[in-house]
Amino acid sequence: MCGIVGYIGGKNCVPILINGLKRLEYRGYDSAGIGIINNSHSDVIKNKGKVSLLEEKIDNLNLFANLGIGHTRWATHGLPNEVNAHPHFNTSKNLFVIHNGIIENYQTLRAGLKKLGYKFITETDSEVIPHLIDSFLTKGNSLFKSVQLALQEIEGTYGLVIIYDKEPDKLIAARKGSPLVLGIGEHENFVASDVSAILAYTKQIVYLEDGELVEVYRDKFVAKTIADKEIQKEVHEISMTLEEIDKAGYDHFMLKEIMGQPESVCNSMRGRIVLDKGTSKLGGLEGVVEKLAAAKRIIISACGTSWHAGLVGEYMFEQFARIPTEVEYASEFRYRNPVINKDDVIFFISQSGETADTLAALREAKIRGASVFGICNVVGSSIARESQAGVYIHAGPEIGVASTKAFTSQLIVLALITLLIARRKDMSLVDGKKIAEEMQKLPDKIAQILKLNDEIEKIAEAFKDSKNFLYLGRGYNFPVALEGALKMKEISYIHAEGYPAAEMKHGPIALIDENMPIVFIAPKDSTYEKILSNIEEIKARKGIIIAVASDSDNEIDKLVDYTIKIPDTIRMLMPILTVIPLQLLAYHIAVKKGLNVDQPRNLAKSVTVE
Ligand code: AGP
Ligand code: GLU
Repeated sequence: MCGIVGYIGGKNCVPILINGLKRLEYRGYDSAGIGIINNSHSDVIKNKGKVSLLEEKIDNLNLFANLGIGHTRWATHGLPNEVNAHPHFNTSKNLFVIHNGIIENYQTLRAGLKKLGYKFITETDSEVIPHLIDSFLTKGNSLFKSVQLALQEIEGTYGLVIIYDKEPDKLIAARKGSPLVLGIGEHENFVASDVSAILAYTKQIVYLEDGELVEVYRDKFVAKTIADKEIQKEVHEISMTLEEIDKAGYDHFMLKEIMGQPESVCNSMRGRIVLDKGTSKLGGLEGVVEKLAAAKRIIISACGTSWHAGLVGEYMFEQFARIPTEVEYASEFRYRNPVINKDDVIFFISQSGETADTLAALREAKIRGASVFGICNVVGSSIARESQAGVYIHAGPEIGVASTKAFTSQLIVLALITLLIARRKDMSLVDGKKIAEEMQKLPDKIAQILKLNDEIEKIAEAFKDSKNFLYLGRGYNFPVALEGALKMKEISYIHAEGYPAAEMKHGPIALIDENMPIVFIAPKDSTYEKILSNIEEIKARKGIIIAVASDSDNEIDKLVDYTIKIPDTIRMLMPILTVIPLQLLAYHIAVKKGLNVDQPRNLAKSVTVE
């Protein structure tokens, strides 16, 4: 689930691997390691903790090699310590393996290999791989054949890279359920779990598919299936730039991404709004618009923040496109035997496009004959490629583990899809135009909210020692309450819950006392009066209230302890504005607590295990 980088060529691979691992740090990890092979010396160096610690260790060793692999581990089996870190190796320590994912039948394989005399030194599932490959090598097979045979016995998910000192002219990479790309250079080639690791060296990318393995040499590569069928792979030139994956002067990627939302939101809309017709144009859905408009039901499936975006989508689709919509956690969708009819359309939302639960749900939906459409950020990602149609959100690379700009861009795309369907149905030109016009005003309004950064930082100071937070909103802002609470939990480690404001009286109000901060999302919309009553209920029980309210609202200040005043827009677009102060609040509290904002504990950027 974490980071992979590999190199073969004429240069010293060590700085390339370390650089690549640093670029992958954003994904969240607990240990790191490299394995290198050259004529006289093969070695594995690993360390618990940050890549910088590994780098210090390596700096003293003066290593040089033209072939090497590097890994950041996000432990699934066994403690995060040096021994369990990757690369793993065979008994002779001349075959090195890095693995992302989970080997599900590792216990059976381990027992079998132990009977053959293989000794295990780690607690990981991954360690079976080098020994299993070794068992085929000792029978006289080539490295490639041995890997192929090993993969026929392995169940589970993997992104794998293998090097072997008896065949130092190649590395072998294989993929099933965990992303892997090749980077093609001049007399050198790269392997990585995502392009950011190798973007400094090449933009020529080959995406591996599940079930494929490749033999990568300095000047060529040969791709085959596990069953040994040769495959022709296309090389793609990618447009991502190094600047896009740098911090650009900000202290954290998360802050850069929050601050970049006027631009990312603009990019998500660029060329897609047809103002005079009050509708949108989405190339990726062109062939399926009629199917969409005729859908009897829409299902949206996703995880985490993307699931919250889906909840807002439900409100939009039902209100304007008048199509019954259900939103479902991808992890649940797959396991509950869902009823899917041929007129249903299912959207899978995923920033990374690699989330295992979402990908598995998509595959299940396809088997059941549903029309599956993707809403993804990462171009060329698995979910994007496996969807029958879809829309990229074009938010640009999101590096901070806590999703921010992807959320607002997902909402933009959902609004564009709403326009597309609704205008083919009941929505009038006037209403369509109004929505389109309001969408175009969003980047400026977001910029206005971002100017409140200092003010929000002061509020964060007052609450940095809080143990709990409640987030309350109604209608379109209920999912924003969930998202605000998730941001707080993820990076500040403060327990936070989101509720529809009216649900308070059905239980959670018991939690309110003078130590409980409550964030109300209370813009002046049709539920405003009701939310004022909810605020009064909390006030009566001495809760401390922070309200995200409309600029034009002069009344609310009298009722609450802190206000964050933001511009208004139409209801369906309000979450794109109301979420921004909540992202900043969580960010500043985490910074004040001295926490690692971009790589919060226990989290990974893309969750490629189920
Ligand atoms: C968001 O802040 C989280 N880190 C997480 O909930 C995330 O949204 C979820 O894992 C889904 O990821 P995806 O959008 O890449 O599929
Ligand atoms: N399952 C493996 C382990 O725990 C790989 C984890 C990863 O994907 O980083 O070591």
